[in-house]
Amino acid sequence: MSTEDKANEISSEAQDQKPNTPITVPATPQSGDGAAGPITLFFILGLAASLVLGWVVFPQLLYSSKEQPIQFNHALHNELVDDSCQSCHFFREDGTYSGVPKLAQCIDCHEEVQGESPEEEKFVAQYVEKGREVPWLVYSRQPACVFFSHVAHVEMAKMDCVTCHGNIGESESLKTYQANRITGISRDIWGYNIAGLKKNSWDSMKMDDCSECHQREKVNQNSVQTLKGGCFVCHK
Ligand code: HEC
Ligand code: HEC
Ligand code: HEC
Ligand code: HEC
Ligand code: HEC
Repeated sequence: MSTEDKANEISSEAQDQKPNTPITVPATPQSGDGAAGPITLFFILGLAASLVLGWVVFPQLLYSSKEQPIQFNHALHNELVDDSCQSCHFFREDGTYSGVPKLAQCIDCHEEVQGESPEEEKFVAQYVEKGREVPWLVYSRQPACVFFSHVAHVEMAKMDCVTCHGNIGESESLKTYQANRITGISRDIWGYNIAGLKKNSWDSMKMDDCSECHQREKVNQNSVQTLKGGCFVCHK
């Protein structure tokens, strides 16, 4: 065999193998980097999709949003009233809390429209003139089985409203109210961070938040969730 023939043989062998190479290489995962690329990409895309689903889409589906019937400006009113917060939120003689003010507490000033604000016009036309109470949405509303007393916390323990409610009392507008579609409970109870992280004492007001402070402040031997009879400190 001449060297030329040998060379021809080799090149024809090489040609024979050529058509095979594109089939064998991508089929087996071990055989090259070509396959790891798409798999890693699919993994990253899938992970990103499930993170978006869990952290962005799911909370949006779980909570419904409602605007308050009227925009109420706390900062403006705090300057107009004589007795600060107590002008509108006060304790009755029996110790119960008045909570959200009734129409009667607004009428002295809003019998007629005072200014130019469209919110005030709406308030006077739709509620004051018709004698209808404003259906305010209460951010801190607990489920019906929970007993909560403002006297114990505000009068006896001398706690500040901000500890549990944040700065609503100083705000210029009311934030959007969100409710859990399944339980109907306000989002302020369970918190806005779905990982449950808490930066401020008012970020959530669920069972553990109440209990944690009671345990720390040694409120009542019984007000620890895990003790016998402890449930009935906060539950009816
Ligand atoms: C002129 C009356 C008025 C005064 C004064 C007033 N508020 Fe209010 N407050 C309201 C009305 C009306 C609402 C109902 C809106 C709502 O549901 O958030 C409200 C709601 C609130 C809420 C929301 C409760 C919840 O969970 O929905 C907090 C907290 C609050 N006020 C704190 C304060 C504090 C603190 C002050 C004093 C710095 C104050 N308010 C002064 C009228 C008043
Ligand atoms: C001490 C008197 C007084 C009381 C009590 C009072 N208001 Fe007002 N309110 C005013 C004045 C004054 C304005 C400002 C009007 C203007 O210049 O636009 C105002 C403005 C408003 C506005 C428009 C605010 C804005 O930012 O556009 C609304 C809505 C309103 N009040 C609702 C209420 C409600 C609800 C209550 C009862 C919980 C209430 N007010 C109690 C005096 C009062
Ligand atoms: C220890 C936490 C805590 C403190 C302190 C506190 N609150 Fe509350 N507040 C709550 C809880 C919890 C609710 C819901 C009660 C319920 O659903 O029965 C509530 C409800 C309310 C409501 C709505 C009540 C209703 O039934 O309409 C108002 C208004 C309010 N608080 C104002 C205040 C003001 C003003 C202060 C300060 C003087 C204050 N709160 C201090 C926890 C607190
Ligand atoms: C930041 C601390 C703190 C938080 C948060 C808190 N509490 Fe309290 N609570 C206290 C203190 C302190 C007392 C004791 C007041 C006193 O009698 O001097 C108390 C008393 C009570 C009492 C009366 C208990 C008794 O033995 O008479 C009830 C009921 C109660 N809390 C329910 C709740 C509920 C429900 C929540 C959550 C929505 C809550 N508390 C959140 C500090 C807290
Ligand atoms: C310090 C106050 C406190 C104590 C003590 C306490 N709870 Fe609660 N519990 C709450 C609050 C506030 C809620 C509503 C917020 C939430 O769901 O976390 C609640 C909610 C619940 C719910 C859900 C009810 C619903 O409608 O969503 C159950 C069930 C419950 N508690 C059982 C218990 C049991 C059982 C105990 C005794 C081992 C107990 N709790 C002790 C404050 C308390």
